[in-house]
Amino acid sequence: MLPLLLSLVLFPLCLLYLLHRRARAKKPSSATAHKLPLPPGSMGWPYIGETFQLYSSNPNTFFSLKQKKYGRIFKTHILGCPCVMVSSPEAARLVLVTQAQMFKPTYPASKERLLGPKAIFFQQGNYHARLRRIVLRAFMPDAIRGKVAGIEAVAIQALHSWDGRNINTFQEMKTYAFHVALLSIFGKDEISCIDELKQCYYTLEKGYNSMPINLPGTLFSNAMKARKQLGRIVADILSYRRQKKAEADDLLGSLMEAKQGLTDDQIADNIIGVIFASRDTTASVLTWIVKYLGENPSILQAVTEEQEEIMRDKEMGEGEKYLTWADTKRMPMTSKVIQETMRVASILSFTFREAVEDVEYEGYLIPKGWKVLPLFRNIHHSPDNFTDPEKFDPSRFEVAPKANTFMPFGNGTHSCPGNELAKLEMLVLLHHLTTKYRWSMSGSESGIQYGPFVLPLHGLPMRFSRKT
Ligand code: HEM
Repeated sequence: MLPLLLSLVLFPLCLLYLLHRRARAKKPSSATAHKLPLPPGSMGWPYIGETFQLYSSNPNTFFSLKQKKYGRIFKTHILGCPCVMVSSPEAARLVLVTQAQMFKPTYPASKERLLGPKAIFFQQGNYHARLRRIVLRAFMPDAIRGKVAGIEAVAIQALHSWDGRNINTFQEMKTYAFHVALLSIFGKDEISCIDELKQCYYTLEKGYNSMPINLPGTLFSNAMKARKQLGRIVADILSYRRQKKAEADDLLGSLMEAKQGLTDDQIADNIIGVIFASRDTTASVLTWIVKYLGENPSILQAVTEEQEEIMRDKEMGEGEKYLTWADTKRMPMTSKVIQETMRVASILSFTFREAVEDVEYEGYLIPKGWKVLPLFRNIHHSPDNFTDPEKFDPSRFEVAPKANTFMPFGNGTHSCPGNELAKLEMLVLLHHLTTKYRWSMSGSESGIQYGPFVLPLHGLPMRFSRKT
């Protein structure tokens, strides 16, 4: 009995000790802090730092050169801020999960103003936890399983509109992701101002990555005006919903029913925030999937066969003719393609946090106020974590990756609450794309464009046509 008890108590204690020992960060005393060196690295030009190098070269090259030269923790200067980049799974987990209280989420003030200061990304503590529960309630599997038919209708319509045309794949995927986001936020409400909402959102988006100069006529100033208008539009939708007094199983319903009550501004900031978080991310993963499938005919064939089997069963069976939640669980090959695309493309190379106090990590000082960037891309491309990491090989996901080595949706309290919806909308689109369409590159140029998102060149111009 005693040995059993000892092992029951000692084993978890030892494990805890080992886990804790592996990656530790602590606040150094002010005397120690002065003596600690900063991590190795280069800070580039005054103010500009290395921003230009980062956003004009292949991020795989930028980050791997840095890592080769300086190791798995190094300093740099980008977007006007001194930064420490960390690229080990342990360090990423420490920053995002185990010692997350030392590192707060951080965005430039101009981005906060554009999206809305009360949006979930910028928050910490109780308000963040409350918002997160509300957002998760709208996007967890039980909430979205009823949305498959609606998403399928959006996918069919999108694909139909591409038939026989040369399209910019990324732009079209953005439109698709936007419509799915609107469906999951507002449900199927016939909202009269939806076109105006789209126009304002597009103007906002154009200003998001521009210089934050708020002078008449600049992209930024137009975006600020569009943001105000978006607030008014959401207020109109809210009053329409309140008059209707119907219960709704969408994000707007979830935000309106919040127990401690959210203000209209808080609701608007979070709706605009969710549209923003869901659109370019999902669209760029889908664009990469189209590219990788085109380059790997045997993988495309395997995905097509998997999807055709589901289609055949539906045609011959007596049950539901439309895709169901259960069907999306019969797509292991397609799911592995999505996972592998998210690993290879690593569309979010990193995320931003800020040290809220001086932190000592691996014998280095991370000074208070410096940005700390866990590098998802390096973790996903490290041969320590993935054999032959540059190869597109979905079969590697037949075995679960090692803990903390695969985090396309982040990790910890700010990890992506929309990940189930993102996977669902990708599966649904891929079902119809592979069973009913063929596509080929239009134009001869192939390559990659950088910043802020890494994308196939020119958004991947393609010609799609219906299979005969
Ligand atoms: C393939 C598509 C997507 C990818 C790769 C992705 C990735 C991520 C990542 C890495 C984060 C964490 C950022 C951080 O820790 O700083 C995040 C957060 C977030 N994502 Fe996604 N996302 C995707 C789609 C979506 C969708 C469809 C939605 C909504 C329906 C969504 C809503 C959000 C929200 C609201 C947050 C902030 C969570 C918080 O701060 O607590 N995302 N996403």
